[in-house]
Amino acid sequence: MTETVTENGLSYHFVVPGDDFTRAGEASGSIKSILKKLGIRPDVVRKVAISMYEGEINLVIHAGGGEIDVEIGPEAVDIVLTDHGPGIPDVAKAMEEGWSTATAQVRNLGFGAGMGLPNMKKYSDEMHIDSTVGVGTTVTMRVYL
Ligand SMILES: Nc1ncnc2c1ncn2[C@@H]1O[C@H](COP(=O)(O)OP(=O)(O)O)[C@@H](O)[C@H]1O
Ligand SMILES: [Mg+2]
Repeated sequence: MTETVTENGLSYHFVVPGDDFTRAGEASGSIKSILKKLGIRPDVVRKVAISMYEGEINLVIHAGGGEIDVEIGPEAVDIVLTDHGPGIPDVAKAMEEGWSTATAQVRNLGFGAGMGLPNMKKYSDEMHIDSTVGVGTTVTMRVYL
């Protein structure tokens, strides 16, 4: 994790390795404790922690890893997840509750219930998915403070 103090607030960068389930959740866990220390409202911390965790897990299980940028500004927490994985062919389908392409092996580890993207939508205040098959995916989320 790298931390940068900007004129807008605090900025964090994470590199998330692919297929490493032992480290899955580290980045969102770090942001959760940083927000708590900053005295951010618990309901806001929870929204950020859940939506970022789901995005982080998707980088691990679907994209071969990626990067996450988090900016804690005066009004909102902005989260940008970037990967160069396979992309999402049908974003509307992927957004459906229970829809998942996770392998049986991944499901056996307790992931792949198909609730990640729906919960990212539910717990963030704004969410945008930009995905190109064969190129990668960028998910942007905003949670107001
Ligand atoms: N970053 C990503 N890159 C490629 N595909 C993705 C990514 N994130 C999500 N997906 C696709 O969208 C589906 C639904 O995602 P999600 O709701 O998080 O469920 P789950 O991760 O449990 O499969 C995934 O099964 C996968 O096919
Ligand atoms: Mg998921």
